[in-house]
Amino acid sequence: MRQHIVAGNWKMNNSLNEGLKLTTEIMNMVADEVRGNAKVILAPPFIHLTQVKSLIKGAKNVHLSAQNCNHNPSGAFTGEVSASMLNSVGVEYVIIGHSERREYFNETNAQLAAKVNLALENNLLPIFCCGESLEIRESGNFIDFICNQIKESLFHLSEEQFQKVVIAYEPIWAIGTGKTASSEQAQEVHAAIRKFIASKYGANVADDTSILYGGSCKPSNAKELFACADVDGGLIGGASLKSRDFVDIVKSF
Ligand code: G3P
Repeated sequence: MRQHIVAGNWKMNNSLNEGLKLTTEIMNMVADEVRGNAKVILAPPFIHLTQVKSLIKGAKNVHLSAQNCNHNPSGAFTGEVSASMLNSVGVEYVIIGHSERREYFNETNAQLAAKVNLALENNLLPIFCCGESLEIRESGNFIDFICNQIKESLFHLSEEQFQKVVIAYEPIWAIGTGKTASSEQAQEVHAAIRKFIASKYGANVADDTSILYGGSCKPSNAKELFACADVDGGLIGGASLKSRDFVDIVKSF
């Protein structure tokens, strides 16, 4: 179901105590300041999950995500974490296909399709990331590239399964660079993604899909980005590590 969502991807940051302190700060600010029904999702590293889960238990609109899961159900994959393990500690969402994992861990569209399947089989809601490099942006083929990522990793899903997926468009050239996509650039891609989803699953499913923007989203630009017709919120990196900035982004709808 389409909704306003702001998810904080902490990436590989925060000791356990730093993470719990950040969570408590965000919780208190959200309770005191956030009106309306924007959904807040925290995506800490694995080590924080069980204790952040305990902290957010009472919060109406704060939810827990992992940043990844393995593309196998279980087995000899040293250092990895499975979707079923995440479900066992109360995780609700899982980020799949972040560009940093595609780049640094060579994740393929096929592996990501397997991750999506395992997430759904284990009652996790996928936050599926897509986005182009600067080279592909400048080539002009970025919409075809993004649609192919979505087709190869998601279009095997049934309509019912697809309705559980959140999409996050993250132009690689805007991640961590301070170079945010303009609202026109974001809206163009989000609208194209929604149209592509409609071509497979129909307009109703497409209209019901939450499509988030990620890439140097800050309190200073969130309001303009979130005002776009097809931008339903943000997947926030750096700004999610500062409670004041993150909650100001949540308040930007
Ligand atoms: O997953 C969100 C992240 O990739 C965006 O990072 O630091 O540009 O907000 P940042």
